[in-house]
Amino acid sequence: MSSKAQALLKRERKVLSTSYVRPYPFVPERGEGVWLYDVDGNRYLDFMGGIAVNTTGYGHPKVLEAAQAQMQRFVHVCFSDFSHEPNVSLAERLVEKLGGGYRVYFGNSGTEAVEAAIKLVRYHTRRPYLLAFTGAFHGRTFGSLSLTSSNVKYRQGFAPLLPGVVHVPYPSPSRPPFGVPPERAGQAVLDYLEHLFKTKLPPAEVAAFFVEPIQGEGGYLLPAPGFFKDLKALLEHHGILLVADEIQTGAGRTGTFLAMEQEGVQPEVVTLAKGLASGFPLSALLFREELSSWPPGAHGTTFGGNPVAAAAAMATLDLLEEGLMENAREVGAFLKAKLEELLKGVPGVVEVRGRGLMLAVAFASGELRDRAVNAAFERGLLTLPAGPDALRIAPPLILSQEEAEEGAGRLAEAIRALG
Ligand SMILES: Cc1ncc(COP(=O)(O)O)c(C=O)c1O
Repeated sequence: MSSKAQALLKRERKVLSTSYVRPYPFVPERGEGVWLYDVDGNRYLDFMGGIAVNTTGYGHPKVLEAAQAQMQRFVHVCFSDFSHEPNVSLAERLVEKLGGGYRVYFGNSGTEAVEAAIKLVRYHTRRPYLLAFTGAFHGRTFGSLSLTSSNVKYRQGFAPLLPGVVHVPYPSPSRPPFGVPPERAGQAVLDYLEHLFKTKLPPAEVAAFFVEPIQGEGGYLLPAPGFFKDLKALLEHHGILLVADEIQTGAGRTGTFLAMEQEGVQPEVVTLAKGLASGFPLSALLFREELSSWPPGAHGTTFGGNPVAAAAAMATLDLLEEGLMENAREVGAFLKAKLEELLKGVPGVVEVRGRGLMLAVAFASGELRDRAVNAAFERGLLTLPAGPDALRIAPPLILSQEEAEEGAGRLAEAIRALG
C-alpha cells in the first residue's frame, strides 16, 4: 500500500466526519477520459464514475470550455431572485427533452430535487401520504430519507422521520416479493397495492408514488417488464402522481435520456441530478405544467441553479445527443454480454444485470461482493457496492468497447481469484 494515499487517509481520520465511507484506499490525483491516477501514480480504469456522475469522463474539453467561459462571466447570482441565460436555456432544453409541458426547479443535489418533489406533490394535491418501494434510495435529508429504505444504516438513529410514507415491495424478477415466481413479481405488487387501497391506505389521500426506474443503491434491480405501465394506469385511476426519480438512471445512463422512456411511461414529476452536469453539482425537478401552483417564494435556494453547472450541463447534453447515449446502449450491451461470457459458471456469481451503462454483477453473498470490489481495486479497476450483494458498474458514458473489454477482463480475473 502506497505511502502518499495512506498518509492522507491518516490525516483525514483526525479531522473528517466518521460518516464518510472508504470502501478501499483510493486517493485520486487526476483523471483523463475513463482513467484515474492516484496520488502515488497508479492508474485505474473507472467503472464507478463518481457514482454515476461523470457522464463525459474526466477533463472533457467541451465541458471544461463551457464551464470556464461561464466562470469568466459570473459564478453566482442567486437564481431564486434573479434570472440568467444559462438556466433558462437549460430549462428550455430539459423541457424539450421530456416532450414539452413541464416546468423546472433547479437545486444542487439529488436529495434537494427529491425534497422539492415531496413539497410540490403535497402542495399541489393537499394529500398527506407518499408511496415508495422497499429497497428504494431517494436521498438522506429528512424528506428523502423517509422514502429511502435500501439499508437501515441510513435511518438508524434519525427517527422520527416524515410521517405518511408507506413502503411497498419492489417487483424485481431477480428478487421476487411475497415468494412468487419471477414472472409474477409485477402482478403480485399490483395486487398488493389494490389490497392496500381497500384495507388501510385511502388512495384519495395519497399524493404521489416515488419510484426509481431501476433501483440504484438498492442493488441495480430492474422492475418486472411492463410493470410501470400498469402502475401508472392504477395511479391515474386514483389521481396519484408518479414521481420518477431518475437521479441515477437519467441523463443518458441507460441509453435513453430518461430510463422511463424505455418503459413507455410519462411521469408527472421527474428528478435529475448526478450525471446531468458531468460532475458539477446540479439537480433539476421537472413537473407537469398543470402542477405549477407554487407562488413566488414557496420554495427556493441560495446556490441551486448555478450558472457554471448549467453551462456544463448544456455541454453534457450536446455530447449525449452527439452519440453518448448511443454509446451507453452499445458499449453497455457489449460489456454485459462480455461479463456474462467471462463469469459463466463462476461460483458465487448469481447474475449480470442492468441496462446501458448501469450494470451490476450480483453475488451469492455481501461478503463475496465486498471481496470482489476489493480484488477489482487491486487490479486497477474502480467499482462500488450496491444493495446487499451487487457490485455496480457505472462508468463514464464515453467508455469505448476496448476499455469495456479491458475492465471486464480485470473484473472477471478478480472474481475468479476469490476462489
Ligand atoms: C435514485 C437516487 N435518488 C436520490 C439520490 C440522492 O442524491 P444526492 O446524493 O445527490 O443527494 C441518489 C443518490 O445516490 C439516488 O441514486
